[in-house]
Amino acid sequence: MQVDPADGRPIFLVGFMGTGKSEVGKALASRLAWAFADTDRWVEDRAGRTVEEIFVESGEGLFRRWESRALAALSPSTRTVIATGGGLFTARAHRETIRTSGVSVWLDASLERIRKRLGRSRGRPLWRSEDPVALRAFFDRRRSVYFLADVRVDADREDPSEVAELVRRAVFH
Ligand code: S3P
Repeated sequence: MQVDPADGRPIFLVGFMGTGKSEVGKALASRLAWAFADTDRWVEDRAGRTVEEIFVESGEGLFRRWESRALAALSPSTRTVIATGGGLFTARAHRETIRTSGVSVWLDASLERIRKRLGRSRGRPLWRSEDPVALRAFFDRRRSVYFLADVRVDADREDPSEVAELVRRAVFH
């Protein structure tokens, strides 16, 4: 799917944790001279807690409700690149909002690449590097949903600005 940049409809970056959605999103926004937004940051700013704190203190359910609010607030934006949390696109209602508001781009990186990036990183409650079999199953389940995005871009490259350029070319005429 290609869109006309003059429309200014937002570009939603979707994909697994550690695929570089925020870094690529910032690089793409600066390349296009568009704004950048991040659903996790939106939630943290409004909730006054980190994503991890929300998960630990109140549970995933509350975090998902915050995510829905973030999407509702951000989806009417124009000329904006929106990085979404890795679970946001898994909800059918969220996919519908994204489909009617703009274009979805799946940053598709291999689990090996993601493992290198995230390692034992903290702050991502659903990143379970210590159980490789469960992690692989989770990754494969998620991939089958990201597959529904309008555009897929190979995000295995190291440099976010290179991936941003691939996104730009894939999305715009
Ligand atoms: C999540 C991904 C995280 C964050 C939360 C849940 C997920 O965002 O929203 O920890 O369900 O995959 P990133 O994809 O930016 O790490």
